[in-house]
Amino acid sequence: MAKIIGGIGTSHVPAIGAAIDHGKEAEPYWQPFFKGIQPARDWMEKAKPDVCIIIYNDHASAFSLESISTFSIGVAPEFQPADEGYGPRKVPVVKGSSEFATHIAESLILDEFDMTICNKMPVDHGLTVPLSIAYDQPEEWPCEVIPLCVNVIQYPQPTANRCYNLGKALRKAIDSFDKDITVVIFGTGGMSHQLQGERAGLVNRDFDTEFLDKLTKSPKDLTKLSHTEYLRESGSEGIEMIMWLIMRGAMDDELDEIYRFYHVPVSNTGYGLLILENKQ
Ligand code: DHB
Ligand code: FE
Repeated sequence: MAKIIGGIGTSHVPAIGAAIDHGKEAEPYWQPFFKGIQPARDWMEKAKPDVCIIIYNDHASAFSLESISTFSIGVAPEFQPADEGYGPRKVPVVKGSSEFATHIAESLILDEFDMTICNKMPVDHGLTVPLSIAYDQPEEWPCEVIPLCVNVIQYPQPTANRCYNLGKALRKAIDSFDKDITVVIFGTGGMSHQLQGERAGLVNRDFDTEFLDKLTKSPKDLTKLSHTEYLRESGSEGIEMIMWLIMRGAMDDELDEIYRFYHVPVSNTGYGLLILENKQ
C-alpha cells in the first residue's frame, strides 16, 4: 500500500529558483533564507520518498485564459520545465508516476472531484521551485512527481473548504494504491503577497502566523474563510495558500509539526515552510 510519510507546506517564489540557479545562496540577502530551509533538505534526504505529489498552481505557463481548469492532474511519464519568459530553468526534467497518477485520477473522479487529466503539461516555478527547495540542484530529481494543479489565479477559484475535501479524497486515493511506495505531499504557494495594484508589496505576518498555527492544529477554521477574507488579509496572490489545505486534508487530523520557518521578505512575500508528520 502507498504510505504518506509527510506533508510539506512551502511558498514557491520564483526568485528562490533564480537564486539557486545563479549560485547566490551565500549572499547576505539569501543566507538566512537558505539556512532556514536546510532542515527541510535534511528531512527529505532522510525520508527519501518514492513519489512527491506536488499541489501547485500554474501561472499562465501551461494554461492560458483560453481554458481554465479548476483541478488538473498530470499523468504523463515526464514534464518539461516551462519557459516563463527567460527560457526554461536549467533543472532536470520532472519524472512522472503514470500508473499511480492514473489511479489517483480515477479514484478522485469516482469520488466526484472532476479532475482535468493532463497528458502533456510544462511545469513552471510553482512546481520546480518547491523541488529545488527540497532537493537543491541534483543531476536528476530523486523522486517521481505527480503534479496536481489548482486554479488560484483566475476568479472563480475553488473554496478553501473544497480544497480541504479534495485532500481527504486524495488520501483515500493514496491509501488504496496497491504498491509499497512512500509519498510526500507538498502544498505550495503564498504566503501573504500582492504583486500588483495599490497594495503591491503587502505582507501580513500576523495572518501568516495564524495560518501556520491553524494549519497544524485546527485546519477546519481555515476552510471557513471566504475568498474575500483571504484576499483582504493575505493579498491578491496570497490566496495561493488555499492549496496548503489540500496537503493538510490528506494528512491525519491529529499530527505533529516537525519544523517551521517563516522569513520576510523573500522577493515581495512572506515565505513560509512547514514539515508535518502523521503520528504513526
Ligand atoms: C512571485 C510570484 C509568485 O508566483 C509567487 O507565488 C510569489 C512571488 C514573484 O513574482 O515575486
Ligand atoms: Fe505563485
